[in-house]
Amino acid sequence: MSAELYSKEETLDLRKRLVGPSCKLFFPEDPVKIVRAEGQYIYDEKGRRYLDCINNVSHVGHCHPVVVKAAHEQNKVLNTNTRYLHDNLVEYATRLSKTLPEKLCIFYFVNSGSEANDLALRLARQYTKHQDVIVLDHAYHGHLTSLIDISPYKFRKLEGQKEWVHVVPLPDSYRGPYRENHEDPGAAYANEVKKCIDEAHRKNHKIAAFFIESLPSVAGHIIPPAGYFQKVAEYVRGAGGVFVADEIQVGFGRVGKHFWAFQLQGEDFAPDIVTMGKPMGNGHPIACAITTKEIADAFTGTGVEYFNTFGGNPVSCAIGLAVLDVIEKENLMHRATEVGNYMMELLNKQKSKHGMVGDVRGVGLFIGVDLVKDHEKRTPATAEAEFIIRRLKQEHIVVSTDGPHGNVIKFKPPMCFTKENAKFVVDALDKILTGIVCQLPSSANQKTVIKGILSVQ
Ligand SMILES: Cc1ncc(COP(=O)(O)O)c(C=O)c1O
Repeated sequence: MSAELYSKEETLDLRKRLVGPSCKLFFPEDPVKIVRAEGQYIYDEKGRRYLDCINNVSHVGHCHPVVVKAAHEQNKVLNTNTRYLHDNLVEYATRLSKTLPEKLCIFYFVNSGSEANDLALRLARQYTKHQDVIVLDHAYHGHLTSLIDISPYKFRKLEGQKEWVHVVPLPDSYRGPYRENHEDPGAAYANEVKKCIDEAHRKNHKIAAFFIESLPSVAGHIIPPAGYFQKVAEYVRGAGGVFVADEIQVGFGRVGKHFWAFQLQGEDFAPDIVTMGKPMGNGHPIACAITTKEIADAFTGTGVEYFNTFGGNPVSCAIGLAVLDVIEKENLMHRATEVGNYMMELLNKQKSKHGMVGDVRGVGLFIGVDLVKDHEKRTPATAEAEFIIRRLKQEHIVVSTDGPHGNVIKFKPPMCFTKENAKFVVDALDKILTGIVCQLPSSANQKTVIKGILSVQ
């Protein structure tokens, strides 16, 4: 079907009529209709090119020819479920295992990050025979019922917290209770987990798992302080639970120095379960939960088969293998470090220039710019962030915001992002911060003012 079957207005109208309104669009007041993409660029129906700064799914670049070819070639030959032997599945598991700590050696292929996390929950509960879960405040782990329950980012807006879910403070050294001037924020935040476990035990609750995104992204692009994972794992395992690292957004070399973001905490650290998805198939739905032999054995011990119709099919695995090939052959991890460091350097200059840039934090091509109204108080500049991303769109740059206050501009571009791209974005941000945002009043009617400015652009 041609992408131009309908005019933009017709597409929007049909979408409004046919698609559940809770499925949101970026820039709802003027959505972008995308008809093709290549590398780090997406193109609208008029042929206008936008620089994509947020699509961490098109990891090695939109429509990468090597990935497209791998899908096509395998599609021509066979696609079926995992009840037959096939080389692609075992080859892919073998290749992935080389990136992981040795103990993480059993693979369950699924179709989405949510499925991977739901399975991680089942694995943890079966292995530990416990039920409860500890999660970070503001975390998001997926859209299934089980995962909404362990996602404060969602459940706070719904029925609330289940009695088997325990929430600990986000290890945020910029805005959280223990900040950059604390002598050991990692230990202090881990101690919050210990306190949470003690409290759960007092109520006769037993911990099955601690779930954490290796770099909390929805929660505001947080870099957990050193030593946090090791200490938390010690407390959680001491309570009979397991440590689950959600790498669904941040895995596959995005952090540059390592293939997995949990490895930023030290080569000695290994979770008990790792979940991955989004970038894994460069846009094709493939995901995975990986665990230890002991945990997998306990799961097998139920005697119940785990069957997933599409998970691990030959086409998905061919695509997964092609993604790994491209990461390696195009040296994308090295590039993530080079380009990421350069972008951080440019953004830090903006921090000295513009009072609104409160914090610039990141690693590799995972970068957040925390906007504040007041440097001292670190008051989130939420409306301003919303305004800036709309202005950036007018400069043909697509970014969005994250964090509990929606004031963190997030950069998670495809890994083929260049230094020129980074400079283009930061120059545009500089222009916007200089020319427009500084004139905004800090009054309650700011949103109206912002809307006004947007409509005259
Ligand atoms: C950290 C994290 N975990 C899990 C998920 C769920 O993945 P999916 O949407 O593929 O089900 C997401 C999706 O945004 C996510 O960001």
